[in-house]
Amino acid sequence: MHALQYTTHGGPEVLSWTAAPDVHAGPGQVRVEVRAASVNPIDWKLFTGMMSGGQPMTGTGYLGHDAAGVVDEVGDGVTGVAVGDDVFGLGSNTQAEHAVLASWAAKPSSVDWAVAAAVGVGGETSERALRLLGVEAGETLLIDGGAGGVGAIAVQMAVARGIRVVASSSEANHGYLEEIGAIPVLYGEGMGDRVVAATGGPVDAVFDVAGKTPVEQLVALVPAPAKVLSIANFSAGEVGAQVTVGGADAQPTKALAEVKDLLEQNQLVVKVQTFPFDRAEEAYRISQGGHVRGKLALVP
Ligand SMILES: NC(=O)c1ccc[n+]([C@@H]2O[C@H](COP(=O)([O-])OP(=O)(O)OC[C@H]3O[C@@H](n4cnc5c(N)ncnc54)[C@H](OP(=O)(O)O)[C@@H]3O)[C@@H](O)[C@H]2O)c1
Repeated sequence: MHALQYTTHGGPEVLSWTAAPDVHAGPGQVRVEVRAASVNPIDWKLFTGMMSGGQPMTGTGYLGHDAAGVVDEVGDGVTGVAVGDDVFGLGSNTQAEHAVLASWAAKPSSVDWAVAAAVGVGGETSERALRLLGVEAGETLLIDGGAGGVGAIAVQMAVARGIRVVASSSEANHGYLEEIGAIPVLYGEGMGDRVVAATGGPVDAVFDVAGKTPVEQLVALVPAPAKVLSIANFSAGEVGAQVTVGGADAQPTKALAEVKDLLEQNQLVVKVQTFPFDRAEEAYRISQGGHVRGKLALVP
C-alpha cells in the first residue's frame, strides 16, 4: 500500500506518498480502506521535529490520527461492526491507503467522507474539554480559537448542549462563527474587554484552543483558574488552569458516538478543504500557517 511518510525532519517538502508495509487490525481494532484522513497540527509538529526533543530522526515517520473509510478487516474481540461497514474514527498512521482504527463510530450516510474524517480528533478533543471543564447548559463558555479544526467542532458541540458560546477568531472568520452558533470576538490585545462587552459579564469557563492568549488574561474572565482549560499552552498549569493532552482523560468511543449523533441531527457541520494524498504538502503549508477555517483533509 501507499502511505504519507518522511525519513528526515523538515518542512512539508520532506513528505512523500510512497509504498509502505501493510498494516493489520489487532485485537479490539478494525482496519479501513481509507476514503479520507484529516490534517491536524500534531502531524506537522511531528514531521518538523518540534516534538523530537532535539533528537535526530531515525527510521520512517508516518502521519494521521483520524480517518473515515470502509472496514476491510475486523480484529479479535470486536463486535458490532463488519467488513463493508462505513466508519470514522481515531487511529495512528491514518494518512495511508489502509489504516487501523482503535475507536470508531458508524459514518452517517448523509455525511461526506472528508467531513467524517475531519471530526475525529476535533470531536474527541472537544468532548474531553467540555467534560473536564464541567460546563453546563445555560452557562457561558469562551472558546479562544473557535474557527479552526478543534474550535469549530467545540463551538457546535457546546451549542448543542445548550451552552452559550462566545468564540474568538480573526475578523475574517466572524461570519463563520456566527453561522455555527457562536458570538464572535476578535482575538489579541483587549480580547477580555470585548468578551465582557459581548456577553454582559465574565464567563463560566474558557476552552483555550489556540494557546496564544496569555493564560492570566483568560483566568481573569472565570470564577476559578481551573475553569480555564488549554490544549495548546502547556505552561497554563502554572496558574492553576487545566491542561490536557488526551491519554487517560480521553473517552474516544463516547466522544465519537456524540459526534455521530450531532452529524445525523445536522447539529454539526464542518467546512472542509480537501487535497489528494500526493498533494499533502500544500495542505500542510496551509495548516502550518495557523489560520485554517474548519478543517483540511486528504483523500485518495
Ligand atoms: N492537547 C490536545 O489534546 C490537543 C488536541 C488537538 C489539538 N491540539 C492543539 O490545539 C491547537 C489547535 O488545533 P486546531 O486543529 O484547532 O488548529 P487549526 O485547525 O490550525 O486552527 C487554528 C485556529 O487558531 C486560530 N488562531 C490563530 N491565532 C489565534 C490567536 N492569536 N488567538 C486565538 N485563535 C487564534 C485561527 O483563527 P483565524 O484563522 O481566524 O486566525 C484558526 O482558526 C494546535 O496547537 C493543536 O496541536 C491539542
